[in-house]
Amino acid sequence: MQLRVVLGLLALLGLCGIVLGRSATAEPGDAQAGRGLYIRLCASCHGVTGQGGRMGAMLSPPPRNLADQAYMHGRSEQQLFEVIQQGGAAVGLSAAMNAFGNQLNTQQIWDVVAYVRTFAAPASAAAPPLSATARPPEAPAADLSMARLHLSIWPEYDDPRVLVILRGEMAPAQAFPTRIGLPLPKGAEIIGAGMISEQNELLVHPHQVLPGDGEDRLEMQLPVPRFFLEFYYNPFTTTGAAKRLAYTVALPYPITVLEVDVQQPLQSSEFVLTPPPAERSTDERGLTYHRFVYHNVAAGQGPTFTIAYTKTARTPSVTQRQTQPPPPAPMHPTQVRVRRALVGGSVLVGAIVLCIGWAWLTRRSRSRARSVAAEAVPPGSLAEAFVALVQHEATPVAAPVDFCTDCGRKLLPEDRFCADCGKPVPR
Ligand code: HEC
Repeated sequence: MQLRVVLGLLALLGLCGIVLGRSATAEPGDAQAGRGLYIRLCASCHGVTGQGGRMGAMLSPPPRNLADQAYMHGRSEQQLFEVIQQGGAAVGLSAAMNAFGNQLNTQQIWDVVAYVRTFAAPASAAAPPLSATARPPEAPAADLSMARLHLSIWPEYDDPRVLVILRGEMAPAQAFPTRIGLPLPKGAEIIGAGMISEQNELLVHPHQVLPGDGEDRLEMQLPVPRFFLEFYYNPFTTTGAAKRLAYTVALPYPITVLEVDVQQPLQSSEFVLTPPPAERSTDERGLTYHRFVYHNVAAGQGPTFTIAYTKTARTPSVTQRQTQPPPPAPMHPTQVRVRRALVGGSVLVGAIVLCIGWAWLTRRSRSRARSVAAEAVPPGSLAEAFVALVQHEATPVAAPVDFCTDCGRKLLPEDRFCADCGKPVPR
């Protein structure tokens, strides 16, 4: 007996040793793995090179320069780990540095620590900092171009204004991080702007609108080549039924492949689009898309689309809370969100209906325990399925249980009246 206890203890000790050994070897995280996490979660404040980001510049105190060798030399791995896991406040630093312990697991934090360490790595280090090729955050981007741009122009889609959606990919990819500037019509309301991750998530990213003469300019510091921008603007000068707008693609970058779709508003007539589209398609809601493809568009030399139509109805093509499925073609992030909400909502409603149905049928079927089968339930219906379930469920119940014949409440043997509806119990 004692031998078994001793053996057990030994085994336990061995196990601890293995666990400790593993965590000790896991400590020097993987900088390459930490890079993506850092760019996504930290770069807005700390900058892609650790020297401070746009959001960080607005904080007081601003984050320290993580690329400062002298300062970083005095910080231990454990200290860095703790500030990332528990946040600034927990270690006596500014609370603006959030705790990431609930977003990142231990290994991920070590990976991020390893990546943070590359910023202040001595230049002679065997592995150069991964950001070595990165430009300093505010450097102007001169030789950039767009590998691909998808532009959607949707007049009166879910708003009386025009919805414009840009999805683009900048080139060359090794120029990143970099700063890009996109023209924005005066008075535009930005719905979202940011980057598109490798997993195709739209990540809202800090941006700035610089007022200009004819139009404004949206600038963002992009860590990755893919970006998105969505906004509404109002080009309509009159409130009458005859609508007219002209949209010029005047981007400061050459574009290798430019795809454009113009959506024709529902309930519109006399729709005229110049230039004429290369292709046209209609989705299941009756919304027509006019499509164009251009190759090798020079900077600032994009096409101008003139759109004219008549529409007396004041309602946009879809209402924002509409229960219709969104169009399949150009995925518009708000729709993705709406779709998720719709799916989530219908699942919830379905679940509630199921619960209510179940409760109702349970009560009913119990109150008519003997006549359930005779009830007029349409064959193959959901109700039939319920009845089948309830019957199935009800069979193992012990015989002497009694129920009120009026409301279905379960009756105790000593009950003279139903506790719910007061009906006398015939005994
Ligand atoms: C909302 C802005 C913000 C974000 C996001 C942010 N930080 Fe910080 N961080 C700060 C600020 C501000 C400080 C400085 C606190 C001080 O010095 O009092 C700081 C401090 C730090 C320090 C401590 C440096 C030292 O003095 O020891 C490290 C390390 C750090 N951040 C890493 C990260 C990492 C890694 C992430 C992403 C997982 C991240 N931060 C995300 C704002 C931010």
